[in-house]
Parts: sequence; C-alpha cells; structure tokens
Amino acid sequence: MAEKVIPLADNRYAAALPRIPLTAMRPNGLLGDALGRPLRDLRISVTDRCNFRCSYCMPKEVFDKHYDFLPQTSLLSFEEITRTARLFVAHGVRKIRLTGGEPLLRKNLEVLVAMLAALRTPNGDALDLTLTTNGSVLARKAQALKDAGLKRVTVSLDALDDAIFRRMNDADFPVAEVLAGIEEAQRVGLGPIKVNMVVKRGTNDGQILAMARHFKGTPIVLRFIEYMDVGATNGWRMDEVLPSAEVVARIHAAHPLEAIEANVSGETAERWRYLDGSGEIGVISSVTQAFCQDCNRARLSTEGKLFLCLFASQGHDLRALLRASYSDEQIAGAIGLIWQARTDRYSELRSAAAAGEGPDSPGASGARERRVEMHYIGG
Ligand code: GTP
Ligand code: 5AD
Ligand code: SF4
Ligand code: SF4
Repeated sequence: MAEKVIPLADNRYAAALPRIPLTAMRPNGLLGDALGRPLRDLRISVTDRCNFRCSYCMPKEVFDKHYDFLPQTSLLSFEEITRTARLFVAHGVRKIRLTGGEPLLRKNLEVLVAMLAALRTPNGDALDLTLTTNGSVLARKAQALKDAGLKRVTVSLDALDDAIFRRMNDADFPVAEVLAGIEEAQRVGLGPIKVNMVVKRGTNDGQILAMARHFKGTPIVLRFIEYMDVGATNGWRMDEVLPSAEVVARIHAAHPLEAIEANVSGETAERWRYLDGSGEIGVISSVTQAFCQDCNRARLSTEGKLFLCLFASQGHDLRALLRASYSDEQIAGAIGLIWQARTDRYSELRSAAAAGEGPDSPGASGARERRVEMHYIGG
C-alpha cells in the first residue's frame, strides 16, 4: 500500500496539515469516493483575483487594498495545470471548467485553453471545456477563446437593471458591457451559453421576471442560484435566501413552466421549460434541496490544492507533489487515494442540521474550521 507519506507545508485553509499518502496507481477511470460517487468534473481556479466585489462573494470591506491575494509564484503554471488535468482525465474526468476569481484576468488564458483543449479521454474524445466568467472582458476575449478550443461559457449576471447590477457588483460596472460580452460569445459560437443569477431576497429578487423575459425565446439558459453560505466573509443569512421553489412559482405564474429531465447525472441545476416552447431555465438549490448525492466535482485551487467540496476547509497540496520530482503515476495515485477517501456532503448535512436531524454545524473535510472562500475556489 502506501510507500511513503509526505507532510505538506500548507499555509492557507489548513489548520491541520493533510498528509498525502503516496502510492503509484494506474488510473482506470473507475474511481469512486467513499460514498460511491465517481470523479467526472474538474473545476480549476486560475486566479483568486476579480475586478468585481459582489457582496455574496468578495465583500469590499474584506477584499480591500490590504487583502493578501496569492503571489505570482504560488500560482500553478499552465504546464502544471495541464499535467494535473491530464491525470484527472485518466481518472475519469470529462468536463473541465475554468473559474477564478475572474478567470479572464489571468494573462494569456487562451494559451491554457489551447493546452487543455488538446487533452483527450482514453477513448480519444475531446473534453467538455468551459469557463465561468463575470463577462466584464468577454466581448474582447470571446473570439480568441473560441479559436483556442473553448467549447462554451457560463456568464454570471445578477440583474438587468443597471443601478441594481452596479450595486451588486460593487465596482460600478455597467450591465451593458456584460450583455455585449454574452452577445459576442454567442456570435463566435461559445454556446450553449448559460447565465447564472445569484438571487438575494430583498436585493435583486425583483429582477427575476425581467431576467426571465430577457432570455426567454433565446437559446441562452438562465439559471437562478440560491444564495449560499460559502466562505466566512459574506455575512450569509437564511432570510436572504429565496428558495428556488418560489423563483419557479413567480415565473410560472406569468409564463407557465414544466419540469424536464436532467441532461446528465450529477447536474447542479434542475431544469424547467416554458410550455409555449420558448426555451428553458434552471434552478440551483443547494440550500433548500441539496444535491450532494451525485456530486462528482473536484476543485483545484489557484495554488494547486485539491478541494473535495465547495464548503471544505482544507485542500490537499498537489503543488507540493508537482514541484517535487514525483512521477505521473505517483501523483495519479495520490489523487486516487484522496478521492477514494472522500465523504464530503456539506449541503446535505446543513439541511439535516436545519431540520434538527444532525450536527449543528457541518464542516466538510474538518468541522468548524474556516471554510474556503468562493473567489479562491471558483464556485
Ligand atoms: P454546467 O451545468 O455544465 O454548465 O455546469 P455547472 O452548473 O456545474 O457550472 P456552474 O459553474 O455554472 O455552476 C453554477 C453554480 O452552481 C456555481 O457557481 C455554484 O454557485 C453552484 N455549484 C456548482 N457546483 C456546486 C457544488 O458542487 N455544490 C454546491 N453547493 N454548489 C455548486
Ligand atoms: N452563493 C451562490 N452563488 C455564488 N456565487 C458566488 N458566490 C455565491 C454565493 N455566496 C456564484 C457566482 C458565479 C459563480 C462563480 O458562483 O455568481 O456564478
Ligand atoms: Fe468576482 Fe464572481 Fe466573486 Fe462576483 S462572484 S466577486 S464576479 S468571482
Ligand atoms: Fe458537492 Fe460539497 Fe456541493 Fe455537496 S456541498 S454538492 S458535496 S461540493
């Protein structure tokens, strides 16, 4: 079994240092975690920086000019990211999503996209390669990303009303530029495009119908996300969560909807289509209807830590292995063992706790430690 164990010098999100057992493994794509969940989706954060200050993710009071963002030397290089991604693909990953912070702020991102686009599954297929962006510089970058081999994009957009949007991004960024980004992404063929709207009761829930109407009749799928208690800085309160059931009810009253089947197992969104055939919407209900049961997502942070849950407190330091002289087989072995031991299901535990059925403060990968921030792990 384990040939060697290395202690990891880990400075962030690691109150107790995780130790990665090292044993060589030839991946066969059949990896399952401790709850039987496969590994299919890898979300790679390429920067912890962002030009927005959405209050639910990077509140200005915390993420000001004194905030310690990661230094350049901490970041995984494009070569390191690609090497790691290749090992995940060997283990069964079929979708790679680039996230941030704001991923389009990472210099020469299209070079990384081209490197990842060249990866193939054991069957010789290309990956579902996508990216989640705030859209602020998308109009300028869409063509280069498409040319590099990006398949599609998801754009975050919380309001159509310019004043509300500027307030939510807290960077006084105009909505027209994000809409121009979405249009350009569509023009160059980065579809099917999804738009993510985080709904905060009392802040932008008045925009639900306007947003639905704007994208109704287009191929763009608008998805409403319940405001989540990620990280430790956003001051999350349950009374600011608008349950997805209410979002659906509000839209349904004006434009009748019916539920439709998921595209693939493990999908975050529940899908609904307009009865008049004018498209579909989605709702992502991690607070009121946890979807941990099929969660097949791994997250690689900007500095190369592997997180097994959006709500984790600790990451496993793959960068330490990449920068020491470990072989692909050894690193694949570490990834395999880490995934096999995975028991994370934070949202389910939170729901059970809220219903009085479980511990009062669930902590994925280590209870009651400081949880990882959304801008660092990329959502
Ligand atoms: P596609 O459906 O393939 O486009 O991808 P996706 O839904 O995984 O990607 P996206 O980044 O658009 O995810 C939408 C949002 O859902 C994220 O920004 C998060 O807010 C939330 N989300 C995604 N994955 C998880 C997860 O594993 N757990 C929880 N609680 N929320 C998630
Ligand atoms: N709750 C729900 N969604 C969030 N996002 C960021 N923070 C939160 C939160 N607290 C979403 C963004 C974006 C994605 C990366 O994560 O709006 O769509
Ligand atoms: Fe930036 Fe996205 Fe976080 Fe908003 S949600 S601050 S756009 S990373
Ligand atoms: Fe997956 Fe954790 Fe989200 Fe549950 S809470 S769906 S385990 S990332």
